[in-house]
Amino acid sequence: MSSAIFGKVVQLEAALLLLFVASVPAQDADIVRTCTAYKRSVWEETSEFSFLIEDAPIIYKTLDKCTSYAPLIIGGGPALPKEFPHAVRLGHQDNNGEVDWFCGGTLISDRHVLTAAHCHYSPQGSVNIARLGDLEFDTSSDDADPEDFVVKNFTPHPGYSYPAIYNDISVVRLSRPVTFNEYKHPACLPFDDGRAVSSFIAIGWGQLEIVPRTENKKLQKVKLYNYGTRCRMTAEKNEELPEGYNATTQLCIGSNDHKDTCNGDSGGPVLIYHKKHPCMYHVMGITSIGVACDTPDIPAMYTRVHFYLDWIKQQLARN
Ligand SMILES: *[C@@H]1O[C@H](CO)[C@@H](O)[C@H](O)[C@H]1NC(C)=O
Repeated sequence: MSSAIFGKVVQLEAALLLLFVASVPAQDADIVRTCTAYKRSVWEETSEFSFLIEDAPIIYKTLDKCTSYAPLIIGGGPALPKEFPHAVRLGHQDNNGEVDWFCGGTLISDRHVLTAAHCHYSPQGSVNIARLGDLEFDTSSDDADPEDFVVKNFTPHPGYSYPAIYNDISVVRLSRPVTFNEYKHPACLPFDDGRAVSSFIAIGWGQLEIVPRTENKKLQKVKLYNYGTRCRMTAEKNEELPEGYNATTQLCIGSNDHKDTCNGDSGGPVLIYHKKHPCMYHVMGITSIGVACDTPDIPAMYTRVHFYLDWIKQQLARN
């Protein structure tokens, strides 16, 4: 009798466990592994210990410096040194060596930067230069390690078709690999589509096309909120959005503070913290166009990176 009840309980538990497992979205094993490898390469130090006894085994000890989250600020503010080591600035360098920086991006491997496809069609010229490791522009007194990289090629998603902002995603390949350190290393790709995330961090030097060039030389961060499917109501169909908001491929994110939505750079990331490694981020979205500054509580649309994982992985595998 009691064993029959016990059997039922076990069955019930098994069913609940199955339900729980089924509700956790499948994670891409390659992406999880690569993310951990990036974290290890910068934040872990392995040292050797051996006892002063002959033939004693060598013991390795790992020091993990990936410890604390920076507090997620309400509103926004300047980024801290080494806080966003994946932040990239993209621009066009002319024949005289003058650079016009007009887009942001995210380092996602030692050679690849994720950005928006529309950055390729900028009036300032094609993207041919990337700056990594910077914090405050035009100064060398900040705690930063800036380095410029020549862009080898720029691959917009084949589904991007100007002026529509669907599939506004591209992968930039650098001409030489980045040496990772605390100032320069990749963000992880998403483990899930971000539907269940309540808030994000957007970063940028504040150079959206619609904002007059109020020189914001320091990298800024801003906290933004997930507006779910509200963009269905707020987004009017126009030439940028002929089919309206597409929840499969776009994130709908906003803030009720009117200044904050200006801060993200076009092409720059919308981030969340890695759940286990507080020093790491996932790039969940890409700042697209049509982000208005003076309209609090009107969310904007960002490219939903998770939808494009297969295409991104193809680009990372190309030579
Ligand atoms: C959203 O985008 C996906 C992928 O491009 C497409 O298959 C789907 O039809 C789109 N949905 C709407 C409502 O336009």
